[in-house]
Amino acid sequence: MTDVARILAADRAHVWHPYTPMDEWRARHDPLVVVRAEGPWLELASGERLFDGNGSWWVSTLGHNHPRLVAALERQARALCHCSLAGITHESAALLAEELAAVAPRGLDQVFYSDDGSTAIEAAVKMTVQYHAQSAPRAGKKKTRFLALDGAFHGETIGATSLGGVEVFRRPFASVLFDCVHVPSPADDVGGCAPSWALAFDAIAELCEQRRDELAGIVLEPLVQGAAGMRFYPPAYLRAVRDLCDKHDLLLIADEVFTGYGRLGAMWACDLAEISPDLLCTAKGFTAGVLPMAATLASRKVQAAFDGGRAKAFLYGHSYCGNPLGAAVAREVLAIYREENILDGVASRAALLTDLVERVLADGRLRGLVRSGRAQGAIAAFDLLDVATTTETIPTVETLDDTGYTAGVGWRVYEEARKRGAYLRPLGNVVYVTPPLNTPLPDLSRLCQIVEDSLRAVAP
Ligand SMILES: Cc1ncc(COP(=O)(O)O)c(C=O)c1O
Repeated sequence: MTDVARILAADRAHVWHPYTPMDEWRARHDPLVVVRAEGPWLELASGERLFDGNGSWWVSTLGHNHPRLVAALERQARALCHCSLAGITHESAALLAEELAAVAPRGLDQVFYSDDGSTAIEAAVKMTVQYHAQSAPRAGKKKTRFLALDGAFHGETIGATSLGGVEVFRRPFASVLFDCVHVPSPADDVGGCAPSWALAFDAIAELCEQRRDELAGIVLEPLVQGAAGMRFYPPAYLRAVRDLCDKHDLLLIADEVFTGYGRLGAMWACDLAEISPDLLCTAKGFTAGVLPMAATLASRKVQAAFDGGRAKAFLYGHSYCGNPLGAAVAREVLAIYREENILDGVASRAALLTDLVERVLADGRLRGLVRSGRAQGAIAAFDLLDVATTTETIPTVETLDDTGYTAGVGWRVYEEARKRGAYLRPLGNVVYVTPPLNTPLPDLSRLCQIVEDSLRAVAP
């Protein structure tokens, strides 16, 4: 029997929650106490079930506690839980790398392991800087700066935060971030400055022309900027940026932490644009939410710049690099994708989500609440108008800022969804769903109904 009171007391006394103003939170709320999970459902200590509408911050691509992943974890744990990857290898890390190379965009067959999305980005940043420093001498050029998009989110470390283009996440650390050039996003509505991707492309092309001698690489989330509020942009922009990188000797770093493993229906968003980046970061779906583990995939061209003995080696490696438990689970994830046709199944989920968006946008009763909506792959999102909020609005940093993360209205929808059986943590005034890719269709229909009903309950 779960001792809920004891858990809450310990949490209240000692747990510092992510993205949460703790004093306000503790004064007004208790966290949900989850005791187990299965498929898209979280089960609370009260016995209530909640649909995990954001797949636990986008990691749960195969649903919770997939029996094959749990079994793979158990098998690996009995043999080897951990050993370093320094001068050592093991079956799970070696074969996973081979299997990843087989499904990666063309040419990316060198696999560097790390712990999470942020460290996969960090590794890519360091590789890029060192790559340029060690490539053929370029007459005094110092290619060390990065170019990223307005609205970008690449993680939590100082390097990843430096690349980020969401002001609320950068502001507290501005004094220690490295200088990164941000350009208008090709996605509608990010910073309100890119009415078409072609204009955004003109801006990035001009900057690359002007600063080619100092730029090292372009980092972007391919085709959808998640944390900016699920903002989509077309493959043509990605293709044009690939050409730009080739023209100006920049590395293209694709942050597929969110988009990888089929979120948009293809294994990688880069596949939809038919391009190969020079470096690709993957996490989240990499272990489908079972363990924190990530990888940075590199082309042979990039890795070759590190040949030349000790002086040129990549001096980087986390304690848990290539962790056998994570690697065994990640191999099983790939096996499930192959054997359970996960990517093929995205189309039917996408159809339900597209229907949801169309229904909501056509509903006259929701005009006063819903400004716009969109769906692609296993993502649906709505921008809400800032209708009056109540004092019951849940405080998080996203509600405290003035750059698009202001609105409490998303949290009112959260409250309504919570009553109806779904966990729908919003991004400020963007309410969205990113369900597991194998969610049973009746469960997904249920989620869609909850979203619709919750929006109606909040509409003025
Ligand atoms: C596109 C993208 N990159 C990187 C990260 C950071 O990943 P992690 O939280 O695993 O460090 C995230 C997290 O949401 C992300 O969405």
